Amino acid sequence: MKYSPINSKLFINNRKNFMAKMKPSSLAVFNSNDVFTTGADSTLPFTQNRDLFYLSGADQENTILVLFPDCPDPAHREVLFVTETNAHIAVWEGEKLTKEKATEVSGIKTVYWLKDFDKKFFEMMTQCNTIYFNTNEHYRQSVELETREDRFIKRTKEQYPAHNYAKSAPILQRLRSVKDSIEIDLMQQACDITNAGFRRVLKFLKPGVMEYEVEAEFLHEFIRRRSDGFAYTPIIASGNNANVLHYIENNQECKDGDLMLIDAGAQYANYASDMSRTIPVNGRFTERQKQVYDAVLRVKNDATKMLVPGTLWKEYHVEVGKLMTKELLNLGLLDKADVQNEDPNWPAYKKYFMHGTSHHIGLDTHDYGILWEPMQAGNVFTVEPGIYIPEEGFGIRLEDDVVINESGAPFNLMRDIPIETEEIEEIMNS
Ligand code: GLY
Ligand code: MN
Ligand code: MN
Repeated sequence: MKYSPINSKLFINNRKNFMAKMKPSSLAVFNSNDVFTTGADSTLPFTQNRDLFYLSGADQENTILVLFPDCPDPAHREVLFVTETNAHIAVWEGEKLTKEKATEVSGIKTVYWLKDFDKKFFEMMTQCNTIYFNTNEHYRQSVELETREDRFIKRTKEQYPAHNYAKSAPILQRLRSVKDSIEIDLMQQACDITNAGFRRVLKFLKPGVMEYEVEAEFLHEFIRRRSDGFAYTPIIASGNNANVLHYIENNQECKDGDLMLIDAGAQYANYASDMSRTIPVNGRFTERQKQVYDAVLRVKNDATKMLVPGTLWKEYHVEVGKLMTKELLNLGLLDKADVQNEDPNWPAYKKYFMHGTSHHIGLDTHDYGILWEPMQAGNVFTVEPGIYIPEEGFGIRLEDDVVINESGAPFNLMRDIPIETEEIEEIMNS
């Protein structure tokens, strides 16, 4: 990991909040992710399971966390299991968490080696009635792979068929969607790194450059600032590539007169940032490009104002649709008849703006959050309207990450990232 140490108060509080929601006589188990092979003996870089990280700060494979607030043995109310480290492993694989270091990172006093898990776990299971399993209930999840968590659940159900089972997911969905101030600071750092990457690209882009060279500029700036890299596969889409919403090839030449849609964000300490900006390859927007750009910017700014406590995500999207419809009429992309005859299930504006406006963001780019519950202070959302016009050879999306405040407008974590056309042109031409 490249990030600076995180205040363990964050993880201590997160566990306290989770345990406050558990039933009497219950324990909860959280497994790390697997290390994935590429074939032969190579592996992909390890990525920690976000729930385990959220509750412990442990950023290492082969780690298990057990929370058991009513445990008769106070030493077993919070237990972290990590792989045994020794001098031999340290030489080959570098430093792993010692018991002392694991305590320092997580604030958990009881740390055991993973090889002792079965025995300790049996003892704890005999002392409780319910076990919380951490199933993946994210609204967009479509994972076919059997995770370490899935294997654990299967095995535990076989070994302990007489226990009651409960779900961690609803508790985590609620907790993780409301950010602690330490988390907001980490997310601000992620956004600041994204800002540095974007400013570097503004100075770099010109006709003839390849999209992957722009991607490389971001990555260079991210990693030199302690980021682990991109929070998600970046979209670096010049010209009509911007109209392929999930374009990630990033392998075309950037042409004079084209716009470039960039959707890229740094990850810092496992926290995501998610930015979209659209910039002219030659440093100057045409009048038409500027006209559409300013329409998207107005929708973004007005949509942001609606992100206040009490707003319902679904109703918010209906309102943003109305804002976008007005802009598309002004741009001559829709006419009144299109709107009058629209299908309420797929309104006319969707022809040019076919994706959602906002999603929760945090440890995951599309983070946890219960979409049918009203927004509340501490939620962090993206705001990302776009207008995509294949027939005119460009697509524009603008995306910021904002924190919902108790009162007043949300706080924009990307307030320092250039977005006005004048500022973008000025930096590109300076
Ligand atoms: N970059 C992914 C998204 O905007 O949702
Ligand atoms: Mn997004
Ligand atoms: Mn994005």
